[in-house]
Amino acid sequence: MSELARFSVSLEADLLERFDHYCSEGKFATRSEAIRQLLREALTDEAVSGPAEDAAGTLTLVYDHHRSGLPEKLLELQHRHGTLIVSTTHVHLDHHLCLEVLILRGQADRIREAAAELRGLKGIRKGQLVLATTPNIP
Ligand code: NI
Repeated sequence: MSELARFSVSLEADLLERFDHYCSEGKFATRSEAIRQLLREALTDEAVSGPAEDAAGTLTLVYDHHRSGLPEKLLELQHRHGTLIVSTTHVHLDHHLCLEVLILRGQADRIREAAAELRGLKGIRKGQLVLATTPNIP
């Protein structure tokens, strides 16, 4: 770990109040810990800028499996990108909604492409990709 550096931040009182609420809700030990995590999240996407860079991540999808043709399209796309998908977990949330989490590993641009195709399907309610570089995850 590199040497710690300190800096001061100026922000509006109400924003600080919201941030402190975020810190306590998130059970962060200190404001610094919360800021470190937020910065890493913000900078990871930036860091994974080289298209051929090795990366790993998760894609979270929420969708209605009654949507015509959607489960078949999801399955077809997952097979097409099968070499990138390490694992999938599927939870039936209720009679309609499904939560699916895919773990992906491979070249950053290929992961982004696969995630864009999957979450771009009609009927996907939520699609979020979280990407990290490997092996030196920041
Ligand atoms: Ni389901």
